[in-house]
Amino acid sequence: MKGTRDLLPNETIRWRQLETVIHDTMKAWSYGEIRTPVFEMTELFARSVGEESDIVSKQMYTFTDQSKNSLTLRPELTAPTMRAYIQHNLARDGALTKLYYMDTLFRQERPQAGRMRQFSQFGAEAIGSPHPEQDAEVISLICAILNKLGVINLEVVINSIGSAHSRDRYRDELVNFLTPLKNQLSETSQRRLDTNPLRILDTSDEGEQAILADAPDIMEFLDGEDLSHFEELQDHLTEFGIDFRRDKSLVRGLDYYTRTTFEITSPNVGAQSALCGGGRYDDLIAQLGGKPTPAVGFAAGIERILIAAGEHKETSLEGVSVYVVTVSDNTRSAAAKLADNLRQNGVTASFDTLRRSVKAQLREANRLSSSHAVFLGDDELNSGSVEVKELDSGLQSKVAIEEIISHFTID
Ligand code: HAM
Repeated sequence: MKGTRDLLPNETIRWRQLETVIHDTMKAWSYGEIRTPVFEMTELFARSVGEESDIVSKQMYTFTDQSKNSLTLRPELTAPTMRAYIQHNLARDGALTKLYYMDTLFRQERPQAGRMRQFSQFGAEAIGSPHPEQDAEVISLICAILNKLGVINLEVVINSIGSAHSRDRYRDELVNFLTPLKNQLSETSQRRLDTNPLRILDTSDEGEQAILADAPDIMEFLDGEDLSHFEELQDHLTEFGIDFRRDKSLVRGLDYYTRTTFEITSPNVGAQSALCGGGRYDDLIAQLGGKPTPAVGFAAGIERILIAAGEHKETSLEGVSVYVVTVSDNTRSAAAKLADNLRQNGVTASFDTLRRSVKAQLREANRLSSSHAVFLGDDELNSGSVEVKELDSGLQSKVAIEEIISHFTID
């Protein structure tokens, strides 16, 4: 179906490698995993992401169930995570709650490379700290994961859209600037001028971008605290050795942001260059009925990261894999037993169940990218030692059958 994909075995291997890196890194950074339901009450997204956002106004898969509830397949995971945070009173566990997720999402977008209707994100949300070092920590966390995954050519783009009251002043000024130019704006932007003028800033229309080059800069409207938050964030990023660029038009498409917004882009994905988006959302938890609690986080698209990472191979994750070659009919069950024994000891192993020739078995070993072949024939069985061949180099050695497990597991 349009905008969806089946992941076949050659791809799921890469997915699992990536998932392992993500789980391990999140653990090292003390983020705990949360899994929320695939659907939520529609109202949750309307109230948080915003009625005027593209996600809510055009992209949600919304349906009415038998009880006449309006439900929506989750188009993002920050709002569900905050709903769960409030519902389960996770604040009780301490002043700072660090959560992460890795799950499937749904948005009815026009499919293209890196843009799917069912796609996967992982993300992290740090709830409780209003301070810029927390913003810097989440940015450095996603940079660390992308580095480990071998994604290069990254650009970190940051901005601050201030807290609610400074943004209101800026919004008025932007409307004053754009109103006389209204006729030159697209239909969407004309509508946004009334409903959500800041969203006009992230237009992809070049004509509008040229008009906006002269628009007032939000920095001039930030109050003292907003400004020092943004400056301190930049100092922390510099201390962490993260290069970044400020883009005054980075307002992001979701309504819940306050102060910091950021994106990480890679030219390798083509038009859909954003690998990750995030920011601070200090008012969201209160808006959803919780105690006012500041928070900041990010989410990154797994499909786009895999495109950006290209054919990079995590060679260190590719361990030994053994093909046990049955050389004679008499050794069939011994070969099966040996392969089973290797597997029980954590070694990837295969044996032939099609009763094929030695040549065909070696072809299969090659197809499976096995690192070693172990030959088991009558002579080997009688002498108690088998022939082990490194398939890349062709190097061959004799190993006693009782030592075969330790041969592959030790060292
Ligand atoms: P977002 O910018 O809507 O933010 O999505 C984050 C990432 O998800 C994007 O940068 C992109 O890599 C991926 N993505 C989005 N839509 C698609 C699609 N149709 N196909 C493939 N990948 C896609 C959020 O979702 C916020 N909840 C991020 C956040 C977390 N902010 C604070 N905490």
